[in-house]
Amino acid sequence: MKIAIINGPNLNLLGKREESIYGSQTFEEYLVTLKAQFPDHEISYFQSNIEGELVTAIQEVGSNSDGAILNAGAYTHTSIAMADAISGIQKPVVEVHISNVFAREDFRHVSYITPVCKGSIAGFGLDSYRLALLSLIS
Ligand code: DQA
Repeated sequence: MKIAIINGPNLNLLGKREESIYGSQTFEEYLVTLKAQFPDHEISYFQSNIEGELVTAIQEVGSNSDGAILNAGAYTHTSIAMADAISGIQKPVVEVHISNVFAREDFRHVSYITPVCKGSIAGFGLDSYRLALLSLIS
């Protein structure tokens, strides 16, 4: 399968950003180990801090991939545009969060994308991405 991993704002800072919440590994480091665990699948990766670029990346999943793993970062809690983009494609999108958003501030308990995603995985650190991948390929 061709799976797109899409990361939203501030996730380019993994490894440096609030390490007690998000850990000390960069996403690029993690991606090497993730790809090695799934050699039979094609995994692409895109990160942007810009909402419109993320909308375009989701639209492209519709024609270029079999599904997507999306960590929309803070846009999870605000973005109708990203929710509409997910609704507009015919491919499954799994919502991912590194932290357990429900154990954090109230504003993180609201997700505009959960209702339009296949499912949601949160709170397992970077392993959330592997669990999301398993759900897409099984
Ligand atoms: C996050 C949780 C969001 O609330 C936050 O804004 C992020 C990261 C996570 O992976 O835990 O940027 O999506």
